[in-house]
Amino acid sequence: MPRTPGACSSAPRGAWAWRSTAWSHCRRSPWARWRSGRVMAPDRPDLRERARQAREARDAVHGRRRRRVVTRRDGMRCEVDGRWLLNVCGNDYLGLSQHFAVSGALQDAAATDGVGSGGSHLVSGHHARHAALEREIADWLQLPAALLLGSGFAANLAVLQALLGDEDVCVQDRLNHASLIDAARLAGCRLRRYPHADAQGALRQLRSLPGSAAVVATDGVFSMDGDVAPLRELAVVARVQHALLYVDDAHGIGVLGPDGRGSVAEARLDVGAVPLQLVTLGKALGGYGAVLAGDADLVAHLAETARPYLYTTALPPAQAAASLAAVRLARLEHWRRERLMALVQRFRTRARAAGLDLMPSETPIQPLRCGDNANALAWSAALEAAGFWVAAIRPPTVPEGQARLRITLSAAHADADVDALVDALARARDTLGAESAVATPA
Ligand SMILES: Cc1ncc(COP(=O)(O)O)c(C=O)c1O
Repeated sequence: MPRTPGACSSAPRGAWAWRSTAWSHCRRSPWARWRSGRVMAPDRPDLRERARQAREARDAVHGRRRRRVVTRRDGMRCEVDGRWLLNVCGNDYLGLSQHFAVSGALQDAAATDGVGSGGSHLVSGHHARHAALEREIADWLQLPAALLLGSGFAANLAVLQALLGDEDVCVQDRLNHASLIDAARLAGCRLRRYPHADAQGALRQLRSLPGSAAVVATDGVFSMDGDVAPLRELAVVARVQHALLYVDDAHGIGVLGPDGRGSVAEARLDVGAVPLQLVTLGKALGGYGAVLAGDADLVAHLAETARPYLYTTALPPAQAAASLAAVRLARLEHWRRERLMALVQRFRTRARAAGLDLMPSETPIQPLRCGDNANALAWSAALEAAGFWVAAIRPPTVPEGQARLRITLSAAHADADVDALVDALARARDTLGAESAVATPA
């Protein structure tokens, strides 16, 4: 039997030869030399040790994260680690994640099409249900084209990787979501950040690199602050600088604008001003996945070249069917947005009256600053004791020293839930004596 090419002369032959790599049995192999103690291992940093030290460092600043296990959900109430709590920190803004029409659509589609797509979109996984969802979203947003991706995180990676290279620049708001920052890093382009919501700052950054192709990328609604980006000003800046404005509307879609078309529609900007925007399906639409919508040529380019789109399994068609049902509800049931906004106003009015220091947000994201991590954890624990689930958000998700409770409201909350939450917050403030939560005069 011929020897494996590249094997040393004493390599085993015959039936067992296939089990042996060319070197593994040999006394001259790197493995044998290491075992004999004749070779010193290189002095590399130990990654397990590094991870252990990093965890200890996080512990020292109350930065350790832990997952909570939800065992049952019933509307906005959920059983967390064995205890029923009111969820006031999720993103199910319209209360669609448990809607019978949405879960019914998923069940029906799974019954006929199974649970997985079985392939990537460009090979064998693209299903009529995916295409129907893309058409529905393009129609809803009054945009020429849409492309369904696995998640909002992947979609942000896809956009910047497909559009930008080494010589280019991505100009971003300092408080953009982590996926946008990582997307620019993956694209290998230059990343320039401007002060939060400062369109002049964006202009300065663009002016400093006049020869580079440029994307200006911003969250539509900032995920940890709840405020809305100055989209009209950014559109002017992008236009005069020949840059492309990309809006990640993860938290605006379904919530803001006419028919819930999001922050871009609310700012009355068309596809010329915002050639691409991100719609996530896992927040107000209650499901999972994301859609990039906008200019037809750009969307076609992404569909053919964006690696996070090409080299991954398509979403289950049943998940697309569920999202289609959710989009139809979000488009038509205006009462959900009206109800949500009424709850936001109720919360703000009562919280201000109770002397709580709210951030300037008119969206369902209503953060309450706590200062340091220990304080945020203490607030979160006090609220949990009162029956509310509000996670403490700490760095690096928010800037150092700006830990907060990210309170979020949903159309599925009751007035009484909001009132009880404000009472619990005020009691926590009184008990904890947290100066950071006392209102600063306007
Ligand atoms: C602003 C923003 N963009 C993108 C994402 C990522 O979306 P997804 O959860 O669909 O991956 C999030 C998620 O938290 C987000 O808040």
